[in-house]
Amino acid sequence: MNAPSLGTERAVLREAVARALRAPSEHNTQPWRWVLGDDHVDLHVDRSRRLHFTDELGHGALLACGCALHHLRVTLASEGWASAVRHQPETDGRPLARVRIRPIDGDVDATSARHAAAIPARRTDRRRFTGREVPVDVLESLDDAARPYGGVLHLAYGTHRALIAEAMREAAGRQREHVGYAAELEQWTHRYAGARDGIPASARLDGPPPSYRDLVLRWFPRGSLRQPRGGGDHEDASVLAVLTAVDEGPVSVLRAGEALSAVLLEATARGLGTTPITQVLEVPETRERVRHLVVGAHRPPVCVLRLGWPDPFGEPLPATPRRPLDQVLTET
Ligand SMILES: Cc1cc2nc3c(=O)[nH]c(=O)nc-3n(C[C@H](O)[C@H](O)[C@H](O)COP(=O)(O)O)c2cc1C
Repeated sequence: MNAPSLGTERAVLREAVARALRAPSEHNTQPWRWVLGDDHVDLHVDRSRRLHFTDELGHGALLACGCALHHLRVTLASEGWASAVRHQPETDGRPLARVRIRPIDGDVDATSARHAAAIPARRTDRRRFTGREVPVDVLESLDDAARPYGGVLHLAYGTHRALIAEAMREAAGRQREHVGYAAELEQWTHRYAGARDGIPASARLDGPPPSYRDLVLRWFPRGSLRQPRGGGDHEDASVLAVLTAVDEGPVSVLRAGEALSAVLLEATARGLGTTPITQVLEVPETRERVRHLVVGAHRPPVCVLRLGWPDPFGEPLPATPRRPLDQVLTET
C-alpha cells in the first residue's frame, strides 16, 4: 500500500489546488475560485471571468471548472488520497463542488496516477498533426476515460465528420460578425504586460486560420507559433470526436468537464496531441445540427476534440500561463 503524503489535509488540498491550476479553459480565462477549509475545499465558478458573448450558455466556464476538479482529484489520488465530491448547481452562494478527502486504503489507482503524471505535459496543440492514423483501440480508451463522469465520446468519420467541419466553418463565419465575440477575442489574446491568463502569441499560429483537410480551426489573431518544418509533406490525419453530457443541467456539464479532462490526460499519456473545440457549439444553429445529425438528440454535445499524432519535428509547445495560487484560493 502507498502511504499518503505527510501533512495535514489542509496542506494536501492546497497543494492539489496548485497542481489543478494547469487545467485547460476556454481562452485561458481560468474561471475558477477555490475556498479552502480544514477538511474540505470548495470549487466555485468565477462569473467575472465568463465569456458572456462567446459562451452564452455558460457551458465553457462549467467545463473548465470540471477540468480543474478532475485535475485536483487525480492529483489527490496519485498522492494516496481518495476524494468524495458533492456536485451541485451553484445557487445561493453554494459551491459547484465540495471535495473531502481520506487516505486511500489500498493501492493508488493506476489510471489516476497516469492522468496526474500527464498534467504538466498536456497542451492545446493547434498545429498540423502527422498523417499517421489514430488506432481505434486508442480512441476507445479515450471513451473509457470519459464514461465514469457520464461523458460519452462519439467518433465522427465520413459524413459525420464532414457535417461537423462544415458547421465549424459556418460558426466561425457567424461569430466573426459578432462585435461582442470579436471584443472578447481581442481581450483574451492581448493581455496587459505581466498578465498570467489569456492565450499568448506562442500558442496562436501565425497567418490565417489553421486549416487541415476539410477542417478550419478557431482563428486567434497575430500569433507567433509556426507549423513544424521538417518531416516532409503529409496530410493531417487527426480524428474528430464529440464529447456529450447526460443532459444540459449544470451538474451534468460540470461532470462532462471532468470527462473532458480525463480524455485529454489519457490522450496526452498516450502521446496524442489534442485540440478542444467549442466554437461550433457556441452558435445555436450549428450546435443543434451537431446534436441532431451527428450524436442524436438525446445527449447534448459539450465539446468537439481534434486528436492526432504531433509531428516529431515540431518545437515543444511552451506552457500557457496561469494565475498564481493566492489569486484563486481563499483560506477560511
Ligand atoms: C471548454 C474549452 C473550450 C475550448 N475551446 C477552444 C476552441 O474552440 N478552439 C481552440 O483553439 N481552443 C479551445 N480551447 C483551448 C483553450 O484555449 C486552452 O485550454 C487554453 O488556452 C489554455 O492552454 P492549454 O490548454 O495549452 O493549457 C478550449 C478549452 C476548453 C477547456
